[in-house]
Amino acid sequence: MAYPDFNMDHQWLPFTPNRSFKKDPRVFVKADGMFFTTHDGKQVLDGISSLWCVGAGHNRKPINEAIKKQLDTLDYATAFQASNDQAFKAAEMIAAMAPGDLNQVLFCNSGSEAADTSLKVALAYHRARGEGHRNVFIGREKGYHGVGFGGMSVGGIPANRKVYGAALLPRVDHMRFIHDPVKHAYIHGAEPVWEEDILLELEQRILPLHDPSNIAAVIVEPVSGSAGWYLPPKGYLKRLREICDKHGILLIFDEVITGFGRMGTNFGADYYGVVPDMLNFAKAVTNGVIPLGGVICTDRIYNTMMDANAGSPAHAIEFFHGYTYSGHPVACAAAMATLGLFKEENLFERAGEMGMVLGDALHGGLKGLPSVIGIRSLGLAGAVELASVAGAPGKRAYDVFMDCFKQGVLVRPAGENIVICPPYIVEKEHIERIVNVVGESIKKNA
Ligand SMILES: Cc1ncc(COP(=O)(O)O)c(C=O)c1O
Repeated sequence: MAYPDFNMDHQWLPFTPNRSFKKDPRVFVKADGMFFTTHDGKQVLDGISSLWCVGAGHNRKPINEAIKKQLDTLDYATAFQASNDQAFKAAEMIAAMAPGDLNQVLFCNSGSEAADTSLKVALAYHRARGEGHRNVFIGREKGYHGVGFGGMSVGGIPANRKVYGAALLPRVDHMRFIHDPVKHAYIHGAEPVWEEDILLELEQRILPLHDPSNIAAVIVEPVSGSAGWYLPPKGYLKRLREICDKHGILLIFDEVITGFGRMGTNFGADYYGVVPDMLNFAKAVTNGVIPLGGVICTDRIYNTMMDANAGSPAHAIEFFHGYTYSGHPVACAAAMATLGLFKEENLFERAGEMGMVLGDALHGGLKGLPSVIGIRSLGLAGAVELASVAGAPGKRAYDVFMDCFKQGVLVRPAGENIVICPPYIVEKEHIERIVNVVGESIKKNA
């Protein structure tokens, strides 16, 4: 099929209903600030930072210029047995932003690679300490850690797992989901307070079942992003940290969404005051402009891996892992320009402030509309949960997403939720427009 000046017969679209897309395509050809231009000349407001990436807004000159300059200076260099100056500088900048002794950055190119890298580090670290039997991973229901086999295995989104059967990692368990749809349907800029201790299940069922001495790591998103912005109960992450410490289990925070400003802080770890042993990042680190991801490990993990090799010859590699594009100089230059811009424009603080504006607008404008059964907002993100259509899970949110797009607003359907997470440069008028359009669509699709 030919469509204006491109043919759509050869791209298999990711996480997209391909057949209906090709009948009614949504194709971006340009972007600036808060807006896209589509192939048919429409302006579309980016209400989701293009999948949580574009914190500083689109087409930011300092980032573009840094990339152009880097291309003319060092376009690429092998990442194995050599490195490049940009990778060291970017790692230093990222380590300086990370809390505690999270100081050692292993670069990769995506959140999925970060998830698998962190799981591999966990196994290698325990083996280096003489505890190679620690090979059980604990994730959480509805967690999302990308699409690699490791990330999928510890992830807990059923549709992403269901066709992969025995190919998923065998020694994995999942903690229960963190949402109470009755007591905590509506949460605005706060942490839900649970009467029940939701982590008793980890202590009383999961740990004894596997024996804590066999468990390598627990991996969680501080806030469950892809599932639909589900917030951890108050004190949950602190208690999870204590349980992991008690049993020598590594705690991994997957901050691919919560990292670099979304919560109004550098990381979700800062927001919740809990330092993990590894922190995974991607997306906003380059403002989405060029793929870059990574795992920030503690000095302890790095030193253990180095010390375990103290007796090996100088040419021995301590960790057999890496990607051709680990620490790509152009991506690292983009990251430094992005982080510089975030700082110069105080964008994390702004994200925190605009998060309250977004939360006010979502709760004020959408609570009580037909089919709305919950609204959760924290940081610069919110989710509106809609009643499921009988026999057609996810249909209502998808229909609302499609209708909003037709009205020039990009939101994200996630299960039964509509998720809104605009760039940190968002203005009040943009938020009002997003919420009005979502409200109209919800009424049409009630
Ligand atoms: C928490 C989390 N981890 C991992 C990923 C996977 O990242 P990528 O799509 O870059 O592989 C995502 C993507 O949304 C994510 O939200």
